[in-house]
Amino acid sequence: MRDHGVHEAVMVDQVINNLIADKKGNYVDCTFGLGGHAFAILKKLDSEAKLTGIDRDSESLLKANEVLEKDKRFSFINDKFGNIQSHFDPKSLDGILVDLGISSNQLDNPERGFSFQLKGPLDMRMSQSDKVSAETWINKSTKEEIAKVLWEVGEERHSRKISDSICRERDLSPINTTQRLSEIILASKPRRSKKHPATNVFRAIRMEVNSELQELQSLLVSAGKLLKEGGRLAVISFHSLEDRIVKRFVQGKSLEGQNFSFKKVGPKHFKPSQEEVIRNPRSRSAILRIVEKVA
Ligand SMILES: C[S@@+](CC[C@H](N)C(=O)[O-])C[C@H]1O[C@@H](n2cnc3c(N)ncnc32)[C@H](O)[C@@H]1O
Repeated sequence: MRDHGVHEAVMVDQVINNLIADKKGNYVDCTFGLGGHAFAILKKLDSEAKLTGIDRDSESLLKANEVLEKDKRFSFINDKFGNIQSHFDPKSLDGILVDLGISSNQLDNPERGFSFQLKGPLDMRMSQSDKVSAETWINKSTKEEIAKVLWEVGEERHSRKISDSICRERDLSPINTTQRLSEIILASKPRRSKKHPATNVFRAIRMEVNSELQELQSLLVSAGKLLKEGGRLAVISFHSLEDRIVKRFVQGKSLEGQNFSFKKVGPKHFKPSQEEVIRNPRSRSAILRIVEKVA
């Protein structure tokens, strides 16, 4: 992965101290990224333990290869974590970590098209092998589909107005850069706070293009099947919709028909310390929930 800014892993101590109950166990980091959490996990584990990193972004391979060369406890899978069930046996894992969203490196690379602050192609795919980019989605979806995603996923009050402007503009010429989309959004809604007006729209499109909420749902159900009794699941989310899905799941509210259940580990959720938020402002909205499988 090229170095476009440095990604600092979030709430590392809280994750390590509460995820690892068996230092000889079999662990999976579902969102390897630049390996921040994975390095810390490996440091804590004994020599006979195992850690598998997963990431759908093949740019993670570079960092993963560095770890693979040095540490035989580690292996890497370039896939979506929603497919985790095809890689592990039922009741074989002691711990699963998921750190949702994208890394600072992905966000800060203009070529990836995630940022409304950088000029670049309107891409936003976490995996280059996925077919639908943000450009395809924005130019091919109906006005209603766009408004629905901006409203439901982006919680954007001006969803209809923005969707109308997008469809008007794309009739003139296809929208294919982050800058043009950002300008369309800026012209369609008032700027009322310090938050950039395009923040929610860009995040909603990214979440839609990468099916992020569906991936999370699949991962949670798979985690219930793949964890051993006493195995632990740690999820860091940055968005209220994601956290709501995790919360409902760990409370057993979305588990009808499943024959497993969880109890919480530590407080109802963990938040970053004030020092961490000052050092790493990106951690500000992070919520970590950790649970243990009881049956
Ligand atoms: C917030 S970053 C993780 C950073 C990592 N914990 C670290 O310390 O470097 C999220 C990573 O998860 C990956 N990712 C997001 N959704 C994924 C999915 N459904 N399947 C696999 N990887 C995913 C992204 O490509 C990104 O590299």
